[in-house]
Amino acid sequence: MYDFEKCPDRRHTDSIKWEDAPEGVIPMWVADMDIPVAEPVQEALRERAAHPLYGYPDFQQKELKNLVVAHYRKLYDTEVDPQWIVWVPSVMPGVTLSVKIRQGSFAYFVPMYNHIREVTLEAKQPVTEVSMKKAGTQFFMDFAAMEAAMTPKIKTFILCNPHNPVGRCYTKEEILEAAEFCEKHDLLLVSDEIHCELVLEGQHVPAFTVSEWAKMHSVTMGSQGKIGNIPGLPLGFAIIPNPELRAVFEKELLGTMSSYNVMTLAAYEKLYDGSCDTWKEELRDHLRKNRDIVEDWVSRMEGITMPHNQATYLAFLDCSGLGLENPAEFFLKEAKVMVSPGEIFADPQSVRLNYGCPESQLKEALSRMEEALKKYKSGC
Ligand SMILES: Cc1ncc(COP(=O)(O)O)c(C=O)c1O
Repeated sequence: MYDFEKCPDRRHTDSIKWEDAPEGVIPMWVADMDIPVAEPVQEALRERAAHPLYGYPDFQQKELKNLVVAHYRKLYDTEVDPQWIVWVPSVMPGVTLSVKIRQGSFAYFVPMYNHIREVTLEAKQPVTEVSMKKAGTQFFMDFAAMEAAMTPKIKTFILCNPHNPVGRCYTKEEILEAAEFCEKHDLLLVSDEIHCELVLEGQHVPAFTVSEWAKMHSVTMGSQGKIGNIPGLPLGFAIIPNPELRAVFEKELLGTMSSYNVMTLAAYEKLYDGSCDTWKEELRDHLRKNRDIVEDWVSRMEGITMPHNQATYLAFLDCSGLGLENPAEFFLKEAKVMVSPGEIFADPQSVRLNYGCPESQLKEALSRMEEALKKYKSGC
């Protein structure tokens, strides 16, 4: 059994998560876990660092692509042709390039991962953000609302699956519905699947597998950044079965060759060759336990609700019942816990809490938040 309770002090390690948090504050915000990477990855990195040359890596090498192919076969029972795989500096640049393929405007559901919102809002296109529908506390894509919002200028639909920040792992039927919607309106389907190995319940279904149409009209992106907890060793890939779309995408990629590095390559080999599989399995068990702790806590907190997380380590807490002007600011000031403010995801009355950490850290953060809420509710 791996021990996910031990995390060395991360201050002064150039961690944005910890450096941005004032002294004494527990950072529970950016999607980066307070969990050391798997031992085989650590070992591979030490070994590679010991060699004193760090030249351009050979990222086109077939071996790594073949590992990705084998991984998709094993996890998703699907055949990926190595030619379909295009390396990208990391997933976000991949999304940025994907939305340029069809030139035009984009649509997606909100709440949505903030950097997807930033990329599309900055593309100076009239972006269409449509609210998801809620059944109880759970979020669902609402294609009736999306239909009503459609304009001929929209050329790309962005899916985030598993969905950050609402923690949904979409079913094959839901993804098929998205693909059929895209087919009807002639949209490119861009699917950000960076959290696909962080499924806690259900089965991840890659977008390009749901239909023949989806295969030929989609860009599906993945990486080991989230499951391997190596976002500081950036890399990602796009799976683009359609050769014409792939050619346009590859053109957009020109000039990014020096974004890749040898350390990332060493880590990826270990994360894909099976030597971290047990670690990943136990990590998901740990995250399920932490999710249950957060859910239990929320069930006792009047004024807060959350959707049941099927995936990710991000709890999206709806604080609208608290009557606070700015819930994230409140938790930072009054509880000394830093969470992500909901407004960046287009939901100002929510906050996103990252529970990818030792249980002790999570419990300390929740207990501080509970204390702060008690004081606030009693008017002190
Ligand atoms: C949905 C989603 N896409 C992309 C990213 C960032 O990906 P990368 O660091 O590989 O650019 C994140 C990070 O939190 C994310 O949650």
